[in-house]
Amino acid sequence: MQSIYLLRVAIAGRTRRVGRRDIEEKDMHGLKKKIAIVAGAAPGNIGGATAVRLAEEGMLVVAADLNPAAAQAVADEITAFDGTAVAHGVDISDEDSYTELIDFTVERFGGVHGLFNVAADLSPQTIGRDSDVVSEPLEVWRHTTDVTLTGYMYGIRSLLVDGGANFT
Ligand SMILES: NC(=O)c1ccc[n+]([C@@H]2O[C@H](COP(=O)([O-])OP(=O)(O)OC[C@H]3O[C@@H](n4cnc5c(N)ncnc54)[C@H](O)[C@@H]3O)[C@@H](O)[C@H]2O)c1
Repeated sequence: MQSIYLLRVAIAGRTRRVGRRDIEEKDMHGLKKKIAIVAGAAPGNIGGATAVRLAEEGMLVVAADLNPAAAQAVADEITAFDGTAVAHGVDISDEDSYTELIDFTVERFGGVHGLFNVAADLSPQTIGRDSDVVSEPLEVWRHTTDVTLTGYMYGIRSLLVDGGANFT
């Protein structure tokens, strides 16, 4: 399923040094001091790399994952180059857990400007049994849609409640 992201980014082409590397192709503007949540952030995966990249642009990042130690490792990587990040555990398939992540972010940084949700269960017991509609175990179908469909909806819904008061 497609990853859903809510990030308003202005893009212009030029080269400059950001953090530890040259950004050559696309340069993001207007992100400094903005607040981002990356759900599904672990070292070496898409969320982890995105969290680092956003922090290099000066965003204040909440690295969130089902595995809190993995999220913490991403936050540590960011703070090691003087970026700003904190880690938080989340189970995106649990609406209360997602709401708690949003509340944590608002309490810590004062709002949310961007949510990048790329969490997914690609473990062998799930993706390894995710076959075809005839033979796929129903529990695998339900779990997959709970995480990568309903979970993504929970994130957007948690942000947009109360007229989007937290989505600054
Ligand atoms: N890696 C690729 O080349 C690639 C390409 C295209 C699309 N994708 C898609 O992008 C998504 C992420 O890919 P990836 O390679 O980074 O996967 P990954 O398995 O490395 O990372 C997914 C992260 O989500 C976390 N997670 C699992 N269940 C969760 C839950 N309930 N709540 C919170 N976090 C949870 C995991 O702990 C893990 O850290 C997947 O949907 C994948 O299909 C990946």
